[in-house]
Order: sequence, then structure tokens, then C-alpha cells
Amino acid sequence: MSPDIDAVNIIILAAGIGKRMNSARPKVLHPLAGRPMLSHVIATARALATSRIIVVVGHGADAVCTAIGAPDIKFVMQTEQQGTGHAVQQALPFIDPTLPTLVLCGDVPLTRASTLRRLFEVAANDHYGVLTVTLDNPCGYGRIVRDCTGRIVRIIEQKDANSWQQEICEINTGIAILPSWRLESWLGSLKNDNIQREFYLTDVVELAIHDGVEVIGVQPDDIWEALGVNNRRQLADLERIYQRNEALRLLDAGVTLVDPSRIDVRGTLECGSEVLIDVNCVFEGRVVLGNCVIIEPNCIIRETTIGSGVRVNAFTYVDGACLGENVVLGPYTRLRSGTILSRNVHVGNFVEVKNSVLGHCAKANHLSYIGDADIGARVNIGAGTITCNYDGINKHRTVICDDVFVGSDTQLVAPVIVGPGATLAAGTTVWHNVPARALVLNEKTQVAKPEYTRPAKKSLK
Ligand code: UD1
Ligand code: MG
Repeated sequence: MSPDIDAVNIIILAAGIGKRMNSARPKVLHPLAGRPMLSHVIATARALATSRIIVVVGHGADAVCTAIGAPDIKFVMQTEQQGTGHAVQQALPFIDPTLPTLVLCGDVPLTRASTLRRLFEVAANDHYGVLTVTLDNPCGYGRIVRDCTGRIVRIIEQKDANSWQQEICEINTGIAILPSWRLESWLGSLKNDNIQREFYLTDVVELAIHDGVEVIGVQPDDIWEALGVNNRRQLADLERIYQRNEALRLLDAGVTLVDPSRIDVRGTLECGSEVLIDVNCVFEGRVVLGNCVIIEPNCIIRETTIGSGVRVNAFTYVDGACLGENVVLGPYTRLRSGTILSRNVHVGNFVEVKNSVLGHCAKANHLSYIGDADIGARVNIGAGTITCNYDGINKHRTVICDDVFVGSDTQLVAPVIVGPGATLAAGTTVWHNVPARALVLNEKTQVAKPEYTRPAKKSLK
């Protein structure tokens, strides 16, 4: 049983400029799996069940606070980015000095909460615990210097390291847990006599040892938990790692992924049993798939609940919809927000549906726009049908009752109500309400001019 980690202060460092991203956007707001890197770190902090989360902001502070703001987060401003030690110092007035302080980095987004719990167990409130990892290529990271007995004696930044220190492959992840009551004096004694002229949090290691506080290294189960993002290449690498982990989670839960390296989950994806997801599908926000759902290749599904037995054929885009059992979509369907499809509805190729409800067994199989409509059960919408829902200023609803047959190429000029069982002939423009069981057509004549000669192409001289 893990100890209760509620008794910890958490400081997340997120003030840095992130120069190596080459971007106007603050580094910690760059998205990983569809949400800001910093949101992942905050989610992990919340998973530790602490109520004391402090985020140090500086570069792009307004944007960071707006994107991330939540009642359980205290933002602290670091006006000048003078280093990680200086950043932690800004947060000191807001921590509980009787509890240890866990320092996380806004640019190390994939650390597991269980790893942080382990670090907490080892360090308690009287050691300096640091999360370290051994990398084949440690370039860019601070190195962990140990003495001949294996004890950590120093952390040296890449830029300040001599050639033998640069050979060290064990690196500092930037994640550490420290006894808070010592922090004020340690941080106050930091010097910036280094290449970057910054106050490094990592220099606290030597001060701690001087004060008889042991520095203990803890390693995560997986290397990717420790990887930081300083440039876009590293962000892209972490995105793939994240997606690989999501794919493995889905496979372990019994989902068939035709190719686990070709799915992107940018939110939460919950799947029932016997779900099959073909290649190149993207899931965004909260998506729930019922049992036996099949998603064909190249679909994008966002904020949607899909009932059991649904088949989503290829190249379909679904955003903000709710689908009943055994619905069939696509190929090439677009469902927009507020679409509710009851069981057994079929919506086919090049059909767009927005803010509409389709009753059970209704069908709209080809080339239609259904917007702001209430469509009853067993209604057949012919190819090329359009609900004219917008008069240029306001939107209006179209109501099509149960068992209506809408012929091809029909326009329904909203607001309009078509009574149950009515038949709209092909090519009808419906301006007025239609009584139940009526046949509606616009009288048009068909003219045939005999022996018509088509224009011939002029010959080029
Ligand atoms: C830091 C560590 C390094 C470690 C690496 C892991 C120090 C001195 N170095 O280096 O040992 O290997 O992380 O990824 O701690 N930040 C502030 N204010 C500042 C400076 C930085 O809030 O004044 C924040 C950044 O936004 C970032 C984090 O601290 O989230 C780390 O800063 P960064 O500049 O990325 O440090 P690294 O060079 O990566
Ligand atoms: Mg960094």
C-alpha cells in the first residue's frame, strides 16, 4: 500500500522561455496528445491527491494561466527567468514548510504517479530524492556525479561539465523531492557562477550534502517517464511514446488495432468488448465506443458516444454526436455537434448532419445536408436533399415526422413541418407545412424539343 502523498507540496516549473522550440508559444503549452504538455504534469500531480499545486509561470504567463487555470492551482510569477533554483524560490512563500516539496518540470510530461510515489517514499521529509535515469545519449541533460562509493555528490549541467563529466550517462530528470524547511536557506545561498549565469536548483545537492542531508537517486520503470522536451524533435518523440502506450493499453483491454502504430488518441477513449479500429483513426476529447463497434480506416471521432454494433465506414468525421446501436455511417459522412442518431440509422456518403435528431431506422444515404432537423423513425431521405435552415440571419428547424419519404433533390425551407407518412416527390421545394400522408410535388413541365442539335466545337484555324 503506497503512503498517502497528500502531505506534499508540489511545485511545477513552467516559466522558461523554451528557446529551442523556436516558437512564440510558451513551451509548456505545446500540445502532447492534444493537450498542453503542462496539463499532463498537472494531471499527474492531481493523481497524487495533493491539494497544494503551485505552478511557476513567467514567459507567456497570461497565456499559460488562461489555458491551464483551475481552482486547485496557485500560479506564481517569476518575472525574470534566472534559473530553476530561482524559480522554486518564488514559490516558497506559498508552501507548507512542514511538508516535503516535490519539484516537477512542466516540460517532463510522462512521469508516472507511481514513480513519484516511490520517490516520496524514499526521500520522506529528511532526504533529497532525485529522479535519475541512464540514457544512451545523455546530451543536453544535467549529469549525476557519484563518488567511488556510489553516493550522489553533485549534479553538473551539460554546459558546465568537463569532458569526463560529459561521459556520464546517468542524468537528472529535473524531478526532485526536498525537505522544505531547509529550502529557504539552501536557495538563498545559491550562486549563479556558471555558464548560463543562472541559479540552478541542482546546485542544492552540494548544499544538502554539506548539511548532512543524504541525496538519494530513484529510477523510473521506463526511461520515457524521465524524458524532457526542449525541442520539437523531442516533443515528437514523446508524442509517439504516448501513443504507443495508449495503443498497448487498448490492446491489453481487448481492442483489435489493425496497426497499433497508426492510431492517435488525443483524449480518453473507452472501448467495449470486441471493438475493431482500423488504421489512421484519430480520437479526440472523450470518446466512448460500445461493444462490437467497427471503425474503418481514416476516421476522426471527437467528443462522441457510439452505441454497440455501430459500423463507421472509412473517411468519416464525427464531432459531438451520440449514436445508438447498430448505426451505420459513411464512407465519407460528416456528423457535427448536436447530432443524435437512434438505433439502426444509416447515414451515407457525403451527408452532413448538424444539430439534428434522426429516429430509428431513418436513412440518409447519399449527398445531403440535414441541419437543425427533427426526423422521425423510418424516414427515407433521398439523395441531394437539403434542409434550408438558414435565412441569412436566423436558423430554423425542419420537422419530418415518422414514415415520411423524401424524394431525391428536395429542399425543405425551414421552418417547416412534414406530417407523418407524407411523400415528397423528387425535386420538390417544400415551403409550407405538409399534411400527414399527403403527396407533395411542385408542378413543373417537362419539355422535349425533338431533333436537337448540340453546338459543335469550333475548329481552330
Ligand atoms: C533542467 C536541469 C537539468 C535536467 C533537465 C531535465 C537545472 C539547472 N537543470 O535543465 O539538470 O537534466 O532539466 O529536463 O535544473 N524554468 C523556470 N524558470 C527558470 C528556468 C527554468 O520555470 O528560470 C522551468 C522551465 O520552464 C522548465 C524547467 O524549469 O519547465 C527546466 O528548465 P529548462 O530550461 O528546460 O532546463 P534544462 O536545461 O532542461
Ligand atoms: Mg528542459
